[in-house]
Amino acid sequence: MKIETIKVWLDERLSISTLAAMAQKKEVPVHRHSIWYYFGGMTLFLFIVQVVTGILLLLYYRPSAETAFESVQFIITEVKFGWLIRSIHSWSANLMILTLFIHMFSVFFLRAYHKPREMTWLSGAVLLFISICFGFSGYLLPWNEVSFFATKVGTEIAGVVPVVGRPMLRFLRGGDDVTGATLTRFFGFHVAVLPAAATALITIHVLLVQLHGMSVPPGLAGKSVKKMKFVPNFLLRDLIGWILAIGVLAALAALFPWELGAKADAFAPAPAGIKPEWYFLFMFQTLKLIPPKILGLDGEVLGIMAFNLVGFLLFLVPFVDRPPGNPRRRLIFNVTGVFALLYIVAMTIYGYVT
Ligand code: HEM
Repeated sequence: MKIETIKVWLDERLSISTLAAMAQKKEVPVHRHSIWYYFGGMTLFLFIVQVVTGILLLLYYRPSAETAFESVQFIITEVKFGWLIRSIHSWSANLMILTLFIHMFSVFFLRAYHKPREMTWLSGAVLLFISICFGFSGYLLPWNEVSFFATKVGTEIAGVVPVVGRPMLRFLRGGDDVTGATLTRFFGFHVAVLPAAATALITIHVLLVQLHGMSVPPGLAGKSVKKMKFVPNFLLRDLIGWILAIGVLAALAALFPWELGAKADAFAPAPAGIKPEWYFLFMFQTLKLIPPKILGLDGEVLGIMAFNLVGFLLFLVPFVDRPPGNPRRRLIFNVTGVFALLYIVAMTIYGYVT
């Protein structure tokens, strides 16, 4: 095919008028579960907040063990509204992970991953992994005491995995210990590798949603369902949600400014009761509760392998739950989903109170 032909083909499909026509055609089903359709858009909005505030932070942040902490201190004390931008970036990261979990569980319970949406689910599962990596890599960047020791513990846990663990630990840390080399790496992941991968995957994810349209829950499949125009009706409702999110973010950031704490010191003892970010807490707490030996095998290793297995099974969901409509399988999936959700919530609370 000639380049000119490809150019004409793309021009036709990517022209403003074609995109406008696509948007005009898009409709969203209206039923009692429609509220869950807002969470993907909300996650997307918070991702955009992250990109914008992240770029602003980059104007002053300096990624090295000698300068990182001081540059963040400078941002929050000297730069006009720097404290606000940093606080919004940190709060929005947490809210994004929260809306992402809500979005994932809602598409799971609504069975939105059935054919032809398997790839939408798969791209989403990779996005979940990327978002968690964003959180983990960003946590180290202020180079404070808590982030330093949390990264030490987190990478240590990765290092326990048989065979690949040790090379992975060295790859993540840039050596055997958490040092300035780890910070440089995490900075590279956080501001280059992950944003590039996330942008590409979000584009694919949202294009797939556009291509297949919104799914309806299993009980409504094949029935005539009321629909709402995406432009302007649904989009305006989305917009109200995003304005509310800005309000919540501004309130959280202003009333509870993100702490910086003390500068990391590799020779200081780890602060007592160190805990990871809330979205890692259920795994952290599980590993703390597992007995050291189970049937002669290392309990921690078994726990980590079990979480890896669950992560892998997440990718298989659309391929195991098919063909759709089997009531027994539906029950098993619902029970598993409810159990996973309750487990995450209960272990997170338990992790906080102990
Ligand atoms: C950065 C992360 C993510 C963003 C920005 C995002 C964005 C979106 C958006 C805007 C939609 C359309 C509206 C909606 O259904 O809420 C959507 C739909 C969907 N997402 Fe995500 N998503 C993300 C992560 C995930 C994850 C982790 C999963 C599951 C593992 C997932 C699975 C799906 C599926 C299956 C649909 C189709 C829903 C339907 O047709 O009813 N997404 N996503």
